[in-house]
Amino acid sequence: MVRVEINGLRKKFPDGTSIGPIDLSLEDGEMVTLLGPSGSGKTTTLRMVAGFIRPDGGSLLFDKTDVTGVPPRERKIGMVVQSVALFPNMSVFQNISFALDVAGWEHEASVTRVEELSEMLSIKNLLNRRIDEISGGEGQRVALARALALDPELLLLDEPFSALDPQLRRHLQGEIRELQQKLGITTIYVTHSQSEAFAISDRIAVLNEGTIVQTGTPNELYENPENEFVAKFIGGGSILRGKVVGESRGLLEIGIGNATINAEGTIAVGKNVTLSVKPEDITISESTRIGVQASVVSVTPQVGHYRIMLDIQGQLVAADIPNQDGMKYTPGNEVLLEISSTGVDVIEER
Ligand SMILES: Nc1ncnc2c1ncn2[C@@H]1O[C@H](COP(=O)(O)OP(=O)(O)OP(=O)(O)O)[C@@H](O)[C@H]1O
Ligand SMILES: [Mg+2]
Repeated sequence: MVRVEINGLRKKFPDGTSIGPIDLSLEDGEMVTLLGPSGSGKTTTLRMVAGFIRPDGGSLLFDKTDVTGVPPRERKIGMVVQSVALFPNMSVFQNISFALDVAGWEHEASVTRVEELSEMLSIKNLLNRRIDEISGGEGQRVALARALALDPELLLLDEPFSALDPQLRRHLQGEIRELQQKLGITTIYVTHSQSEAFAISDRIAVLNEGTIVQTGTPNELYENPENEFVAKFIGGGSILRGKVVGESRGLLEIGIGNATINAEGTIAVGKNVTLSVKPEDITISESTRIGVQASVVSVTPQVGHYRIMLDIQGQLVAADIPNQDGMKYTPGNEVLLEISSTGVDVIEER
């Protein structure tokens, strides 16, 4: 596909808001996520890469070729945004084939390509429907098929699933990662969700107030945040890896080694998952029988609570325990944890 080099791209809007300079490189086939709060400059950065916003300075290279001044349609980019403008009065088929027709494809080749894409995205049964006859999730699949139609070298995804309900969003996130790896397409994904970024990215670039404050693999960011912003934004919850081992009373049972954590969601038994658990959703159980087994690694006093690091089957989680309880524990203690199922964010891993 393509290797992307963003060198010091910057943009200043008339009202004085300034984005960049942005420096970021993507390896061929890599999926990098721009993660940051609302207004941090994610969309602006993506639109500069796509060519829809002309930067005030800096350069953009695709495989060493400078494309900074190249118009968007000549950049071999596929893009999907949050609310995609599909043509409402056309069929799904026509929406996908539109770009091919414009590019001058023969009708037969175009039909074959649309069939191939609709197979890949499981929308074959929708090809004859009009856009107002399909659901939001199906619409985003159509948008993705359309973005991939001309075999782009770079895929840009700007919160493509954020308007969908959480379960569908998680499902599509997993699918997009699987597809991205299968096609080996270099991809920039935009989200403000830490858990989403963790589940699907090779690397993450964290943005704050218009600049990238740290770039790294999910683990690097989590384990070595270089500044307070990253520590707070990423460190909101501990990240654990596990596997769905069962389902009971409407909750998933997720195995972390021999331990089991309950979470809300609909993921098939046997799937690997990433969990994010917030420190305030963990309590140390008074009971000696029920709970998730863990051992205390460290106890650090903070304002109003103790930050207790716990080892669950070799994975580290942070818990914030109110002062009167927190003071009872010392490293080496074996404890049982209660983890609120509503505080566990779970995403299928691919
Ligand atoms: N055309 C514009 N004119 C003036 N300011 C703009 C323009 N486009 C974006 N901005 C400003 O630039 C900043 C970054 O906007 P941007 O859309 O890139 O953020 P974002 O990280 O994508 O946020 P969100 O998560 O809300 O989509 C914001 O302060 C925004 O108000
Ligand atoms: Mg945005």
